[in-house]
Amino acid sequence: MITVYKSKKLSGFISIPGDKSISHRAIIFGALCVGRTTVRGLLESEDVQRTIEAVRQLGAKVDKKDGKWEVYGFGVGGFTSPENVIDCGNSGTTCRLIMGAISTTPISAIFVGDKSLSQRPMDRVIEPLSEIGVKCSARNGSFLPITLEGISSAMPIDFVSKVDSAQVKSAILLAGLNSRGTTKYVERTLTRDHTERMLISFGGKIKTEKTANGYTHYLEGLQELKPQEITVPSDPSSASFFIAAALMVEGSDITIRNICMNETRIGFLKVVNKMGARIEVNNKKTICGESVADLRVKYSRLKGVKVPESLVASMIDEFPILSVLAALAEGKTEMNQIAELKVKESDRIVSMCKGLRQCGVDVNFGEDYMTVKGMKEIRGGQLINTFNDHRIAMSFICLAQVAQKPITISETNSISTSFPEFIEKFKEIGANLSNQMNQ
Ligand code: S3P
Repeated sequence: MITVYKSKKLSGFISIPGDKSISHRAIIFGALCVGRTTVRGLLESEDVQRTIEAVRQLGAKVDKKDGKWEVYGFGVGGFTSPENVIDCGNSGTTCRLIMGAISTTPISAIFVGDKSLSQRPMDRVIEPLSEIGVKCSARNGSFLPITLEGISSAMPIDFVSKVDSAQVKSAILLAGLNSRGTTKYVERTLTRDHTERMLISFGGKIKTEKTANGYTHYLEGLQELKPQEITVPSDPSSASFFIAAALMVEGSDITIRNICMNETRIGFLKVVNKMGARIEVNNKKTICGESVADLRVKYSRLKGVKVPESLVASMIDEFPILSVLAALAEGKTEMNQIAELKVKESDRIVSMCKGLRQCGVDVNFGEDYMTVKGMKEIRGGQLINTFNDHRIAMSFICLAQVAQKPITISETNSISTSFPEFIEKFKEIGANLSNQMNQ
């Protein structure tokens, strides 16, 4: 539990840890090469540790040396059967991407996860993999534990996805790497494209076409990848919490360095700009095929907006913190077509609405939407349940920065899945947080 008090103002320069999605992929791609891949700026969170442990079990060597991570892999198709279960903990990315990556190699593995992950749907990956001929037996057809039996000489698939999910796309592309021929994957919206970019930076080939129905990716099978030196840019989803806090707390002026500015990840920035945020984008550059920049964020008076549906995928992890900003913006904020939030680490529509309602905010929600009416003042004084979801915990810690009375957050352990230094970093720029109590 942690008690969070109103802050005076937030100021200063801050660096935040590496991007979670890119970190998972750097480890997985390293494991798919023969030789040494080095990774600087890797996010050392629990979720990424799960991926490191998973590829170790599949035969790769992964160690930290002189401040950077080294991965020695066995090449595409080189994974060996793990001796133990692959425990994905809370990490959907570990589970779905590793399922795809091993599915076209003739090994078998058992995947397990924590309570939250065991309630999240895996049929979205099982279905396309079964089309290739991979055998997955899952609890009730979709849930962990899952036993996966990979196949040899897999034939590629031509798959049209019903969900906008970079995890599903990545699973199928990773499966396609060891298939005989061209894998075709169609998605309605371009979801985060780190897998495609990283594949290219590892010397692989993939072609993406924009069509009337969305985006089609073509991936040749049996490609050889070459080990690389990767530098991971900072995570825009983790940055969004500090961006929001600086926008809300009067007098704030912070600069966050080296944020990944990939187009498929900056929907949140586009929306807060529409709301009236004062954010400068400085020092733009490219690192390992990803654009990055420093963001200077100043306190701003925000107005409610209707979030364009075309931006939902590019800000899927930022809706909890956006709803906090909406609670203080002038007018109503409407978020539609957000049903995917129901299958995240918690049902994020319900988790956020419950907490905001407790704080006296006027919210409305349904299966795939949420509306928030802004108010002048948040009264505070509540105990908020995070539902053990890191992004819910961080969102309410931010809201508490501007509440009249302190807010207590039910737990903060979940934060270590994506941003272990969150509380320390937040204190560095002036946030007023009590000492953490063990739970
Ligand atoms: C991720 C994709 C997103 C996101 C998750 C990380 C990834 O999930 O919510 O935090 O690394 O591919 P979906 O692709 O399932 O939407």
